[in-house]
Amino acid sequence: MVDLYKLVRPFVFLMAPEQAHRVTIHALKAGLVPAAPKIDAPALEQTLWGLKFPTPIGLAAGFDKNAQVIGPAFGLGFGFVEAGTVTPKPQHGNPPPRIFRDPPNGAVINRMGFPSAGMNAFKANLEQFLSRKDRPRGVVGLNIGMNKSQTEPSKDYGALIRMLGPMADYITINISSPNTPGLRDLQSREPLLELLEAVHEERRKACGDHPPPVLVKLAPDLDEAQQEDLAKAALDGGADGLVLTNTTLERPDYLDADFAAEKGGLSGQPLTDTSTRVIHNFYRLTGGKLPIIGVGGIGNARQAYDKIKAGASLVQLYSALVYEGPYVAHAINRGLLALLQRDGYTDISQAVGAAHGD
Ligand SMILES: Cc1cc2nc3c(=O)[nH]c(=O)nc-3n(C[C@H](O)[C@H](O)[C@H](O)COP(=O)(O)O)c2cc1C
Repeated sequence: MVDLYKLVRPFVFLMAPEQAHRVTIHALKAGLVPAAPKIDAPALEQTLWGLKFPTPIGLAAGFDKNAQVIGPAFGLGFGFVEAGTVTPKPQHGNPPPRIFRDPPNGAVINRMGFPSAGMNAFKANLEQFLSRKDRPRGVVGLNIGMNKSQTEPSKDYGALIRMLGPMADYITINISSPNTPGLRDLQSREPLLELLEAVHEERRKACGDHPPPVLVKLAPDLDEAQQEDLAKAALDGGADGLVLTNTTLERPDYLDADFAAEKGGLSGQPLTDTSTRVIHNFYRLTGGKLPIIGVGGIGNARQAYDKIKAGASLVQLYSALVYEGPYVAHAINRGLLALLQRDGYTDISQAVGAAHGD
């Protein structure tokens, strides 16, 4: 099925990237993309934070910004979907063009700047999905971020938790997109502790007995000292997990020069090793105490497995949908099963952190 996409891809690439994305969302919503064959694989199932993940591959934030295609995404083989980033008020984001491809390098640059229909529209879409009687199996994470105009981040994160927290299986606080001025400043000890305290307070008020776990999504562009600081702050501040990583500001020199000159965050294959290294570091720095969702340049089962062995309990992808097509999650699930079997594991959780030795 992945191979079939190789035939379709040249036609998809005739469209501008954002247009191709819009068409894909429409096609998914309209049921025009057939579901992948179901895989019944107990070896891939895990329970984390009391949530049952049918497979460890998730759809990363940014693809389904307005919670429109959660159901169809589960049909493609994703075990969980992280919808968003949603902002409280609707906003347009940066002017287009704002997504760019470098096909020979399997890379994407985006400077979307959180275009969002806003939390009211997001909530209506989510409610529609959650109220379905035939709701497919899978975990729904919500990725939240602040409006461009906001100068007090905790106000926006608080408002989003109040409105959407009760509907979330888990929440990701996005403080690492490179396209919202000031957002990445939250990636240091004091601002993060303050934000976590505000978020926990809102969660207590809004979610009562069923508080969704709160994860923090970080950038790959952090030096060793910052990583150490943030790992400690995440533990001290009571974060429930980490999403590692967002896109990078780095530009490896082999990239196409015009492509590399575009402003924004780089994702896809050039990010693979960097993000795996960051996962490896945080797993070590947190003593494996905080579950990690690994993301960045996963395009096949081996790359997913590398992140799991580095310490990720779950993984996500986005850019590989562009280059490998809609059935990439299904292919990775199958490939992971084969890798587990090869290495004598009966359960995916046995492979988590395996690269760290005993
Ligand atoms: C077009 C595009 C839009 C994105 N939007 C968001 C977003 O709104 N929120 C977020 O946390 N990450 C966003 N991301 C980052 C992805 O979730 C992911 O962290 C990153 O792309 C690395 O994974 P990948 O190499 O599999 O794409 C976006 C990525 C792309 C390519």
